[in-house]
Amino acid sequence: TAASTTALVAGCDATPDTDAARRGSLRFPTGFGWGAATSAYQIEGAAKEDGRGASVWDTFSHTPGRTRNGDTGDVAADHYHRYAEDLDLMRDLGLRSYRFSISWSRIQADGSGRPNQRGLDFYRRLVAGLHERDIAPMATLFHWDLPQALQDAGGWENRDTAERFAEYADIVFRALGDQVPVWLTINEPKTVVQNGYIWGHHAPGKQDPAAAYLVAHHLQLAHGLAVRALRATGAKTRIGPALNLHPCYPADDTAEAATATRLYDGYENRLYLDSILKGAYPEDVLADLGPDSRMVRGIHDGDLKIISSPVDLVAVQYYTPIYVTGQGDTVSRWPTSEASWQQIYPDGMYDILTRVTRDYGPVPLTITENGLPCPDTLAADGTVDDAGRIDFLRDHFAAAHRAISDGVPLESYHVWSLLDNFEWAEGFDQRWGLVYVDYATQRRVLKRSAHWYRTVIRDNGL
Ligand code: NOJ
Repeated sequence: TAASTTALVAGCDATPDTDAARRGSLRFPTGFGWGAATSAYQIEGAAKEDGRGASVWDTFSHTPGRTRNGDTGDVAADHYHRYAEDLDLMRDLGLRSYRFSISWSRIQADGSGRPNQRGLDFYRRLVAGLHERDIAPMATLFHWDLPQALQDAGGWENRDTAERFAEYADIVFRALGDQVPVWLTINEPKTVVQNGYIWGHHAPGKQDPAAAYLVAHHLQLAHGLAVRALRATGAKTRIGPALNLHPCYPADDTAEAATATRLYDGYENRLYLDSILKGAYPEDVLADLGPDSRMVRGIHDGDLKIISSPVDLVAVQYYTPIYVTGQGDTVSRWPTSEASWQQIYPDGMYDILTRVTRDYGPVPLTITENGLPCPDTLAADGTVDDAGRIDFLRDHFAAAHRAISDGVPLESYHVWSLLDNFEWAEGFDQRWGLVYVDYATQRRVLKRSAHWYRTVIRDNGL
């Protein structure tokens, strides 16, 4: 039954009232930006409409064996056609901020050249619809769906892709710049590096660590070039990176584990944070890669200056901690969610937020993703009871509140995700939404967590 399946998945069953957050009440700062997040390929569908070109995720998901059940984003949650209904859902929830991404291949089918007006118009309508409903748009320029034509020319291994990205960013900024108060450049560069180029279970599906870190550098370069492109338009809106950060802890108290954890943290966090906020890649990571690595040889004079172009905020995505052994392996310490890589550890949210503020100064922060997959089912009475997701969010909101109380300038929080959607290699099996999507009919049903989140937003706290 649904109930017993739920109980088997850690984090998805309700837990007893144990912590203070559940008893007391926690107020967030006035105007706190409660939000939800999505991305283009995961929800839009309409993969061939209005002049959209193919992206690496079209190619990858249509390659047999790459995604669970062979799922693709061809239709997904059909948001491209149902965006007006989805905007009304957001208003019903009381969202103050909505984070979405723009599909590059809708704007430039082949990743370069003249913009496609119909693609731009879709995002114009979406942004206008958000403003009409008093919801602040937050737009990500790149959420992994690289135009396939650019992949054919070498993708992110090719430095030129960073230049193409800057051109694309310029087109989008000229069309929408002032309408979007917060721009995010590249979603989770680390995931492209690791999943796309080391493990290969994401597009473009390579297993080539040497290429991976050159890709990391070009993604960072693309970020910096986009920041400069926004400034060059004179737009008065803000921009920053969207980084998935993983607090890393030694698995035991040996000196070896401490040393291995430090280097692990370099690859997980400092590679991205230091280059943007300190203008230098971490020495330990560079030394570990070696002077002859493709990445180190790919760093040109002046690149770090571009990468560290001043940002207005840093977007943090937190899902899981990492525990590192003396051999540099990882082990689990906490219950794992339906996503095998996710251990449920709310204190990690506090640790990563306070660490960014401590190590990089008081740069404004936003949480652009945090959430939990649950085996949600639509009950006969039309409800979806995701009590475990409520517990998860409550504990993570409380951890964020504690960070704010300790001085972290956190301004908003976006739950991943607004809707159930195409979870990449996991296809539609994993449901991450506040809103259930019945894919057979495309009907949307607010889960119990959505009703609960509405009260959190209304009360501005727990
Ligand atoms: C991070 C990604 O940005 C998003 O696309 C994905 O669905 C969630 N994590 C959950 O895995």
